[in-house]
Amino acid sequence: MNPVYEKVIKCYECVRKMTDFEPKIGITLGSGLGGFADKIKCVKEVSYKDIEGFPVSTVPGHAGKFVFGYLDEVPVVVMSGRVHYYEGYDITDVVLPIRLMKLFGAEVFFVTNAAGGVNRDFNVGDLMMITNHISSFVPNPLIGENIEEFGTRFPDMTDVYTAKYQEIIKKCANDLGINIKQGTYCQTTGPSFETPAEVDMFRILGADAVGMSTVTEAITARHMGMKIAGISLITNKAAGLNEKPLTHEEVKAAGDEAAPKFEKIVKAVIKEIYQTL
Ligand code: HPA
Repeated sequence: MNPVYEKVIKCYECVRKMTDFEPKIGITLGSGLGGFADKIKCVKEVSYKDIEGFPVSTVPGHAGKFVFGYLDEVPVVVMSGRVHYYEGYDITDVVLPIRLMKLFGAEVFFVTNAAGGVNRDFNVGDLMMITNHISSFVPNPLIGENIEEFGTRFPDMTDVYTAKYQEIIKKCANDLGINIKQGTYCQTTGPSFETPAEVDMFRILGADAVGMSTVTEAITARHMGMKIAGISLITNKAAGLNEKPLTHEEVKAAGDEAAPKFEKIVKAVIKEIYQTL
């Protein structure tokens, strides 16, 4: 059997011994946004370290657990803390949790992240609805023998971020009086932040925000036929647009500050998306 497939199935079976909860929507929380997991009426928490073979994050501030439960009436699984490629994991391990969420039953992947603003009009604390992405600077998570059980060899990436969900995000932001930007997210491997020259390059390529996650996850989710909604929190202006050097602490502090606004919109969007399923 394909070793990547085998590992996913082993992790799946391990979690299934702990809970048979079937979420409709899988949510991944970015840096500093972990508090959202507390908004869930929890049915079962599963620590990553209790899942045999599961990659466990080493980044401070990334609590590592799945929370299964209800956001109001919506059955969800929240991934509180993700693993990043820069931690040294194989890219297939980085995206393993996304595959698990689909196997648990999630039809929708709601991805969030902290990102640097590449677009000069973006400010710290802004939310950006992800409309598109650039994957060219990270390894493709589907490299290797295709896992036919999960999806096709050459998945189409024309509409990664579901148009209907973008409409829902805009409507919810409007209803809540939240100003939301939109744009293209570009993933780098990290862990070093970008140079100003790289940020200029990303802008020329059409990127509005840059971060170290999300794109590989979105490719994996599309491969498995999930629909995707994505929101970035702009925690800092990207390198070269700032007077001072970037720090991880600054990213986390901005996440904490924007958490209430972010939680409000994520909750509203999830409720609306659920109505469409
Ligand atoms: N660059 C890359 N990743 C990030 C940034 C950034 O400026 N801010 C938050 N995550």
